Amino acid sequence: MKVAVLVSGRGSNLQALLDACADPSHPAEIVAVISNVPGAYALERAEKAGVTTQVIDHKAYDGRPAFEDALNAALDEAGADLVCLAGFMRLLTDAFVDRWHDRMINIHPSLLPSFKGLHTHERALEAGVRFHGCTVHFVRADMDAGPIIAQAAVPVHPDDDADALGARVLEAEHRLYPLALRLVAEGHARVSGQRVVITNHGAPDSTVL
Ligand code: GAR
Repeated sequence: MKVAVLVSGRGSNLQALLDACADPSHPAEIVAVISNVPGAYALERAEKAGVTTQVIDHKAYDGRPAFEDALNAALDEAGADLVCLAGFMRLLTDAFVDRWHDRMINIHPSLLPSFKGLHTHERALEAGVRFHGCTVHFVRADMDAGPIIAQAAVPVHPDDDADALGARVLEAEHRLYPLALRLVAEGHARVSGQRVVITNHGAPDSTVL
């Protein structure tokens, strides 16, 4: 399965995906990395891994549809079967999301449906939850919503601040995203209504790390 990764920043999740896909046993091949932010460190990571990169700066386009037309053109050119959002910090229109229905996945730093949006670690601490984590899900028009493929939970420690908690979640993200991508690329994560049915994945608990 040919995968394009959309990024906006440092790209540590991209790195986890690149590392996993470098293993010949991984069923996904990363064929393009596209950043909406010029100079994003994620681009360097992709170049080091020998993956084609492209900057599509949203500021250079007159409105979201024009920006997304350029994205679609680049994705088509790359022959992408699946889009992975990895720290891609632009909201996408319904039209773009519909075009990639069940073919676009995202990682979010919380146990959805809790803590959609930004500043998830601060908000988890304020809420006093004992467990926090991350989610990989198919993308739907509503922000940070869509059928959940896999989640990883981490404990919240009494002395945590947002940075410490965020670092623990990020480590979990780096394990979770390659696993979720594997499930999707192998055809073992199938959407059924609001849920994802996992089949034949070998490890019984691999959707809960
Ligand atoms: C990650 O924590 C990812 O879950 C989050 O941005 C960070 C990107 O880091 N994504 C979102 O908040 C999307 N709603 P990275 O660039 O090092 O992968």
